[in-house]
Amino acid sequence: MADAREVREASGKLGVLTQGMGAVATTFFAGVELIKRGLADPVGSLTQLGTIRLGERTEDRMPKIKDFVPLAGTEDLVFGGWDAFPDDAYEAAAHAGVLEKEHLNAVREELKEIRPFPAVFDPRYVARIEATHTKGYGSLREASEQVREDIRAFKEQNDLDRVVMVSCSSTEAYLQPQKAHFALEDFEAAMDASDPAISPSMVYAYAALMEGVPYANGAPSLAVDIPALTQLAGERGVPIAGKDFKTGQTLMKTIVAPGLKARMLGLEGWYSTNILGNRDGEVLDEAGSLKSKEVTKLSVLDTILRPDVHPELYGDITHLVKINYYPPRGDAKEGWDNIDLFGWLGYPMQIKINLLARDSILAAPIVLDLALFLDLAQRAGMGGIQEWLSFFFKSPMTPPELYPEHDLFVQQMKLENTLRAMRGEGLLTHPGPDYYE
Ligand SMILES: NC(=O)c1ccc[n+]([C@@H]2O[C@H](COP(=O)([O-])OP(=O)(O)OC[C@H]3O[C@@H](n4cnc5c(N)ncnc54)[C@H](O)[C@@H]3O)[C@@H](O)[C@H]2O)c1
Repeated sequence: MADAREVREASGKLGVLTQGMGAVATTFFAGVELIKRGLADPVGSLTQLGTIRLGERTEDRMPKIKDFVPLAGTEDLVFGGWDAFPDDAYEAAAHAGVLEKEHLNAVREELKEIRPFPAVFDPRYVARIEATHTKGYGSLREASEQVREDIRAFKEQNDLDRVVMVSCSSTEAYLQPQKAHFALEDFEAAMDASDPAISPSMVYAYAALMEGVPYANGAPSLAVDIPALTQLAGERGVPIAGKDFKTGQTLMKTIVAPGLKARMLGLEGWYSTNILGNRDGEVLDEAGSLKSKEVTKLSVLDTILRPDVHPELYGDITHLVKINYYPPRGDAKEGWDNIDLFGWLGYPMQIKINLLARDSILAAPIVLDLALFLDLAQRAGMGGIQEWLSFFFKSPMTPPELYPEHDLFVQQMKLENTLRAMRGEGLLTHPGPDYYE
């Protein structure tokens, strides 16, 4: 058995700040408040319901993850955030229309208390929002100083021991990493010059890292996923993860594709289309933001199927992803997938997947898990990119020399083995023969 890592206990309160207090963030806040009062179960949350097998099958050891590693408890969580609208979390949740009145009213007081700090906002990055609750600043460096002050004030006013940040902010326009994003000194000079290459998400991420606050990015925007900031996170020992929560269609894709690949079934095409009518959909109705989302959604199949290794099965796939803003649906998203595959002797088959879901119901437990795992990583002294949290993302961040793992089951194994290693338990390799030798 390897040595366990030293992990500081989770004492005191943990603040969770969300950049953006829209549908996902408020569904998360409301859900945790309902759970705290025993009015709901944390369905979909690995940290709350997941178990982890330890040792051999004969040992019958299968603790809950939250009993195995020292996570903060939901009762110790305190929420805050930033938004470009001044609505408190109750009003924002009512606007988002995800949760029923009965649920919202049961935690109305708690949600009313959560009022957003004004946003660092740039309409060039999120065009479809008429922001009314924004900060005034000279340079982007000054904007980051203000975000840092917000973090400190939130920590002090709520008497918090630690803070983590999860971005649940609108998708920003697509951006290729460029000069200002590589070296930290160039990034900081670009902030001083308010260079348009620096997006608001990068300003929040920089502020978080400078305050030693772990940062996860649930949006497809670049944010912390640029060399200057991954380097800063490594140097300061702050955990980071991203990007884009893996929820509906992409979750299904990374469940089904590894199965087809495992059986060496071939693919000709995968056509995915979505309709959604929430504010996220409205923002995505703009070409720049849509491109960011399409890029993260399209990236998943290649590393699962490896067409370079299996050209006869996956060498010629048409993979299309469409997203349409369709207001009548609100948050009730519908996704269709048509998969054209082939089997023995090349005979064709089809699979259709029709997913109907409130978008934010799948995302909210991921925000909880990321907040708790990022806090754990920090207490365990694990800074920089947290690849073991790839499980939660459509486009997992990796060091530049590595390709990301998209297969949900590889990601799950990586996550569980990281926890086992942290506690000095043997890694699970499923060898088998030792049982009957
Ligand atoms: N299942 C899901 O819902 C899901 C899945 C994967 C990713 N995401 C991503 O999560 C993010 C949030 O989704 P949502 O459905 O909650 O969207 P939403 O539109 O309801 O909420 C986003 C909020 O961010 C705010 N905002 C925009 N720019 C900001 C800024 N610069 N600073 C602070 N706040 C800002 C907006 O005012 C809005 O209230 C989006 O990027 C979305 O693509 C959502």
